[in-house]
Amino acid sequence: MSANPDQVDTTSRVDPIHPVPSRLLDPAQCPTPYVSSFDQYKTMWKESVEQPEKFFGNLANELLTWSKPFETVRHGSFQEGDVAWFLEGELNACYNCVDRHALKNPNKVAIIHEGDEPDYVKKITYGELLQEVSKLANVLKARGVKKGDNVAIYMPMIPEAIVSLLACARIGAPHSVIFAGFSAESLRDRVVDASAKIVITADEGRRGGKNIATKRIVDDALKACDSVSNVLVYQRTGSEIPWTEGRDLWWHEEMAKARSYCAPERMNSEDPLFLLYTSGSTGTPKGVLHTTGGYLLGAAATVKYIFDYQENDIFACMADIGWVTGHSYIVYGPLTLGATTVLFESTPTYPTPARFWELIAKHKITQFYTAPTAIRALRRLGDQWVEGHDLSSLRVIGSVGEPINPEAWDWYNEKVGKGRCAVVDTYWQTETGSIIITPLPGAIATKPGSATFPFFGIDPVLLDPASGKELEGNGVTGVLAVRQPWPSMARTVYNNHSRFLDTYLKPYPGYYFTGDGASRDIDGYYWVRGRVDDVINVSGHRLSTSEIESALVLHHSVAEAAVIGGHDDLTGQCIHAFVTLKPNVEEAEGLEKELSLQVRKIIGPFATPKRIYLVSDHPKTRSGKIMRRILRKIVNAEHHELGDTSTLADPSIIPSLITKVHG
Ligand code: PRX
Repeated sequence: MSANPDQVDTTSRVDPIHPVPSRLLDPAQCPTPYVSSFDQYKTMWKESVEQPEKFFGNLANELLTWSKPFETVRHGSFQEGDVAWFLEGELNACYNCVDRHALKNPNKVAIIHEGDEPDYVKKITYGELLQEVSKLANVLKARGVKKGDNVAIYMPMIPEAIVSLLACARIGAPHSVIFAGFSAESLRDRVVDASAKIVITADEGRRGGKNIATKRIVDDALKACDSVSNVLVYQRTGSEIPWTEGRDLWWHEEMAKARSYCAPERMNSEDPLFLLYTSGSTGTPKGVLHTTGGYLLGAAATVKYIFDYQENDIFACMADIGWVTGHSYIVYGPLTLGATTVLFESTPTYPTPARFWELIAKHKITQFYTAPTAIRALRRLGDQWVEGHDLSSLRVIGSVGEPINPEAWDWYNEKVGKGRCAVVDTYWQTETGSIIITPLPGAIATKPGSATFPFFGIDPVLLDPASGKELEGNGVTGVLAVRQPWPSMARTVYNNHSRFLDTYLKPYPGYYFTGDGASRDIDGYYWVRGRVDDVINVSGHRLSTSEIESALVLHHSVAEAAVIGGHDDLTGQCIHAFVTLKPNVEEAEGLEKELSLQVRKIIGPFATPKRIYLVSDHPKTRSGKIMRRILRKIVNAEHHELGDTSTLADPSIIPSLITKVHG
């Protein structure tokens, strides 16, 4: 495994430092942050990694309600792959997110749903949420869903999606949310892998003024899928949809029959809460499994400390519920703390590129969390869209999903934060469950482009990729790993524990391996550079090159495909595919378009290649392995520095590849 060839070593560069905005530390202007100096951060961090039992034992009792107390805080190791937290403890995630707040404060708004059209706003209180969740829990039980049965959720960004996650948690049925941008085939693969009994969906979705044929996609997916006995359909648009008698059920009809209270199931801390499929460097997507106590604590603790959540704040995360960011920062984190969470159904540019800023002003949002790709797109559309909106309610603005370039960081800080907010560039992964490297608003001075320092309980290391030795001191670049377990880390890959061990724990024994390359600069700040494996990140969407290659070779004309991530100013990376055709297949007109559609159909529109090149051959070693490094250099216009090409079977193909890409 080699360090990312695209990474630039800035470990000795002097980067601008932004101190904590003085407004945040002025009690006359803002509530005092939980952590309000770098020294306090250091003391707390030290305790969290040196005495994790004490630190997380206290935090778990402070932030969560346990129906049976835990005795053992931490158990297991990376060596054994048997990490577990709060062993004897019992708690229900739904009770923690809903009941305890509903009982105390039933009229507090739990969810603000901002629909696709800006005038479509719905507020749901904790009291109402408890009723809806209970009813749905009863519906699921009535249809035979029991503790331990997996439920698939394929839904647009509507409150019923949140209700669905929580209802599953209430009865102990792990949910597997599949992002509604995935194709029927991707949905089928995930439903089959999890042997889901029920799929919860909607008739159609609404996004950017258009209807999306959600239920039709589910029907296509379920054509060859035996495990599913029922499809529960929420009526979002009321359009005519196909219906399978006996299998399909209307949400509103079932809910009308259901009792409005359902006791939460007693769950052990280590019982699964959900699966979430994500792409790895090889093979099929893996169902990353998170358990109850540790995950919930990670989600809640990060909302508290990283977003400095204070009572009555309005918390807005713009991610989709189909990704881990939506799970932790729309649903579980904010609701565990009893916050008001914003659920946004639309896009940043509908009906105009002022949508985010209108949203913030309208709901007086205090924490706003989005992705660099959205920030770059909005920056490009011009400052006029952000100017003139009252963004004074904001205190913390966050970024997630990929490295944020300093230009986008500066724009976000100046135009959105007006220099008065903390900017938190938060680094984490589906597998980490919650944020692991990040600034804290009141404590850590920031450098644009750096995720700065580890969160509590995270002991990061940089390893030499070849020897696996720890790189000591500052001013070093290597692969990013973590030295000791933390509560919200994934426990396994569903039904495939050996894949979990092989991917994360065996590459560097004794460490959790992130798959990312990173530097620690001379001041000890972490800079995450991007993946060192065959995972690519397009607009914050994680894709495996081999998944896209597999989709391409399913086309009858294609012999072989090699996919690499190229640099893209807007989306971070973009997909370039080099394809060879089978013997006797002619280069028909429109074939590239057909291949592109093939990828959309098999994975989903977000995986559409930016460029497809039909080539006579790939750069291969003598043993026949495609050298993707060479393709990457050509695409990124670095072909003057191709490095060692002596291992290529046929170096003469390079000029033709360069001409193909650059003309
Ligand atoms: O490469 C890192 C990048 O996104 C990957 C994780 O993707 P996923 O599991 O889909 O989760 C995305 C949201 C948590 C990481 O391995 N990544 C995420 N956040 C950052 C980042 N890279 C740099 N800086 C970040 N803040």
